[in-house]
Amino acid sequence: MEKIRIVEVGPRDGLQNVSKIIPTEKKVEFINRLSSTGLQEIEVTSFVSPKWVPQLSDAVDVSATIKRNPSVRYTALVPNEIGLRKAIDSGYESVAFFTTSSETFSRKNTNCTISESLDTITSLQNQWCENNVRVRVYISTVWYCPFEGKMSIDPLIEIIQKLIDVNIDEISLGDTIGKAERSDVEDTLEIILKYWNPSQFALHFHDTFKNAKQNVIAGMNLGFRNFDSSVGGFGGCPYAPGASGNVATEILMEICEEKGFETGINKQSLIDTGNYIHSILNKEENTWQ
Ligand code: HMG
Ligand code: MG
Repeated sequence: MEKIRIVEVGPRDGLQNVSKIIPTEKKVEFINRLSSTGLQEIEVTSFVSPKWVPQLSDAVDVSATIKRNPSVRYTALVPNEIGLRKAIDSGYESVAFFTTSSETFSRKNTNCTISESLDTITSLQNQWCENNVRVRVYISTVWYCPFEGKMSIDPLIEIIQKLIDVNIDEISLGDTIGKAERSDVEDTLEIILKYWNPSQFALHFHDTFKNAKQNVIAGMNLGFRNFDSSVGGFGGCPYAPGASGNVATEILMEICEEKGFETGINKQSLIDTGNYIHSILNKEENTWQ
């Protein structure tokens, strides 16, 4: 059976955008539960400025307290050298940087230009290599930007090339505001496939307009096998107006079952974990049981 690799981003993308601050011990419990579902990779938190994202200001404590399962890869999101250093000091062997193909979103989300954000990432190559850290980079607003609207492909291709040139392990292509339609996704991915292999990418769909399921299927049909998702379907970037949750990990699992892909995840354990985080956030129980 062919495999799909799921990167669970709920503890980071999910919890960065909730209106209330979740107590550290509840986050730890959530991550520990995720760690025993069979997930291969969990994005635990972010080491960004606590002024910008107060919801994740306990990143050091969360990272020190979770029980690490040796068969899970734990990743932290970092924007710059301070973040990379904190992540390494907190025991991460895998980090995720982020950039975007929109100048306006770059300024709003990280207070710098696209070129500055790429320079930050590439200038840190020695540091991540010396520390044997795996690096993924998110490119946000691949299809639509909340400020600039529909995005064109040429700047995206240039950004991907620059990241490939510094041997980034994986590039995650983000539909940050969940607006891309299946044909948008297919058009962009087909162009990307003229230059690169699908194994170099992950797809990161938010589900604002309920297109994410179709977009995942479009990606799978084109040979993409790495997908980001969030248990319970939480998520969204606080600096992208209109962004809502990531595609739910439960939905992603359902698609995999329908299409005959293996994920290694225990479905009941995943559903229980989704219900746990829903109960913490005082949302209704999820509907995937
Ligand atoms: P800035 O204000 O321009 O930065 O923010 P600065 O360098 O002037 O620093 C300001 C203060 O922050 C200083 O402290 C720094 O030390 C501190 P002060 O002197 O004022 O006390 N600082 C830090 N503290 C902790 N950790 C750090 C760090 N860096 C600086 N790493 C900055 C620039 C990039 C820091 C800021 O804009 C930032 O943190 N932005 C993060 C925004 C964010 O997290 N957005 C959500 C994640 S991206 C996303 O969700 C999209 C994604 O899911 C994919 C998709 O859906 O498309 C990944
Ligand atoms: Mg996201």
